[in-house]
Amino acid sequence: MNNPMRYAAFAAAGLLALGAAGLALGDSDDDDDRREYKSGSRWIEPRADVAPVTNATYREECGACHMPYQPGLLPAAAWQQIMTPDALGDHYGDDASLPDGLRTEITSYLDGNAADDAGRSRSRAFAVGTIAGDGLPRISKTRYFLNEHDEIPPRLVSGNPDVGSFSNCNACHRGAAEGVYNDDRVFIPGVGRWDD
Ligand code: HEC
Ligand code: HEC
Repeated sequence: MNNPMRYAAFAAAGLLALGAAGLALGDSDDDDDRREYKSGSRWIEPRADVAPVTNATYREECGACHMPYQPGLLPAAAWQQIMTPDALGDHYGDDASLPDGLRTEITSYLDGNAADDAGRSRSRAFAVGTIAGDGLPRISKTRYFLNEHDEIPPRLVSGNPDVGSFSNCNACHRGAAEGVYNDDRVFIPGVGRWDD
């Protein structure tokens, strides 16, 4: 995954101080990375892998029971399935029904910012090979997600009271709320930093 040539380019651009963070992001859209890593003379947080949530209605309504998942974590077709009145009434075992006005506003926000059109490569990866399966689509059942998490044993997830399920991204990804998922900022509760 880490391309030595790209790393050399980072170094040449005077970004050697990035160290591991630079390496971890070596496979994403590097032009944007260069711009956003340095702000004036300050180093800023690693760039978000997935565009952060910008819609306040969405954040409030869909962040009440779990973190408001960034729209760029699922393709538009999946969000449409999740956002029908019937699906919201039986939302992964919960009732997440919304008045029609709010439902329409949130659906168009999700639709317009979904993974299929995302500018960031890690976000676009979530649009590939979404598993139809039974029930509603899940971020945690996309092909990309399963590939990235297949080495984590169940005892650290369902068997871990501080995590519970893979749906709780923010239990392990300290930057999840800002859309930062890169593996430098993973910390599994009760386990610590993840080194693979
Ligand atoms: C009443 C509580 C509640 C509200 C409100 C709610 N959800 Fe959920 N949501 C859940 C539960 C419970 C799960 C299943 C979590 C699990 O399996 O651990 C879930 C799961 C999800 C998942 C799948 C996560 C995965 O595993 O990939 C998505 C996507 C999702 N919700 C989107 C939304 C959206 C969009 C809204 C707003 C319209 C919303 N949720 C509002 C309770 C809620
Ligand atoms: C039990 C802890 C845990 C939970 C919960 C979890 N992850 Fe992860 N995630 C990890 C670990 C550990 C890795 C690094 C895997 C590796 O490098 O082998 C990872 C890797 C990733 C990556 C790839 C990062 C990179 O730099 O390549 C993405 C994207 C990601 N997770 C997104 C999510 C999303 C979105 C959710 C919620 C739907 C989630 N994760 C839930 C532990 C978790």
